[in-house]
Amino acid sequence: MNNLLDEWQISQKSRITNFLKKKLDKKSLSKTIYEASNYALLNGGKRFRALLVYAIGEIDNIDKNQLDFIAASIETIHAYSLTHDDLPDMDDDSLRRGLPSCHVKYGIAQAILAGDALQSLAFEVLSSQDFKIKDQQKIILISQLSKAIGIEGMALGQSLDMESSNKKIDVRLLEEMQKNKTGKLIHASCVMPYSISKSFNLSIESTISKLAFQIGQLYQIVDDILDNSSSSECLGKTSGKDQKAKKATYVNIVGIPESKKIKDNLYSNIKKLIGKIPGNTQPLIYLADKIYSREY
Ligand code: IPE
Ligand code: IPE
Ligand code: MG
Ligand code: MG
Ligand code: MG
Repeated sequence: MNNLLDEWQISQKSRITNFLKKKLDKKSLSKTIYEASNYALLNGGKRFRALLVYAIGEIDNIDKNQLDFIAASIETIHAYSLTHDDLPDMDDDSLRRGLPSCHVKYGIAQAILAGDALQSLAFEVLSSQDFKIKDQQKIILISQLSKAIGIEGMALGQSLDMESSNKKIDVRLLEEMQKNKTGKLIHASCVMPYSISKSFNLSIESTISKLAFQIGQLYQIVDDILDNSSSSECLGKTSGKDQKAKKATYVNIVGIPESKKIKDNLYSNIKKLIGKIPGNTQPLIYLADKIYSREY
């Protein structure tokens, strides 16, 4: 069974990467902003958020040609967020996806602009004529994504993250910060595809929404544990950075053993919530396992 799911993962990953290439291809080739955006978007990445989009699609057999647009919008936002996250006035990280960070390769100004361009591309993709769904549904998707990443979402989370460094914040603020900086985009990766399901059901949507926040929390806690316990070679980004920069993370605030307990609790809640969702949830279970046990 796992072989089939491994194949599913490989094929969805190459599907989204090819789709993203097409979306960027027509843009200003040969210009620095194109090169920097291409570098940030297409050089690696696990594509977990896109995989979540396709996994939710499997529940209700949602048309993959439609899911592509949602997955692409999420991955372009994610690439923008990483490009800005690495900037000297943010996390000041010189390694990303095993390569020099975008600003190291192209300079700070071009990296900021590539991030801006990738953010804009997400909404261009969602609003494009080629995306064959009703305009009303497009508006819902655009609203979901913009809310997830703005002043009540990822940007808020990143702002809280920046001002929490060097401080002993309480667990409630830590949770709020992580829910916004990481959780809301992962939440969007699950609720956006479900919102175009032909058999949309409010109670299932509510379960998917709860599940998505738990996956988001698991994602960031695993990221924090790996920063502490893995190597830069394995992670493809600088390890040990959170402690050095005195970042507010689970590891720095509650310690490794407690972080691992929270991680295990989240994982078992996730399994229970997936159990409540009808349809083909095998890819979703597979991804939850991968997110729990990922090593980079
Ligand atoms: C890193 O995300 C940033 C977090 C929110 C933890 P990923 O670990 O998904 O990064 P890529 O896309 O695989 O490089
Ligand atoms: C990044 O969190 C969250 C966003 C980019 C929104 P981190 O700062 O922990 O991500 P890494 O460890 O640099 O990938
Ligand atoms: Mg950060
Ligand atoms: Mg960072
Ligand atoms: Mg991190």
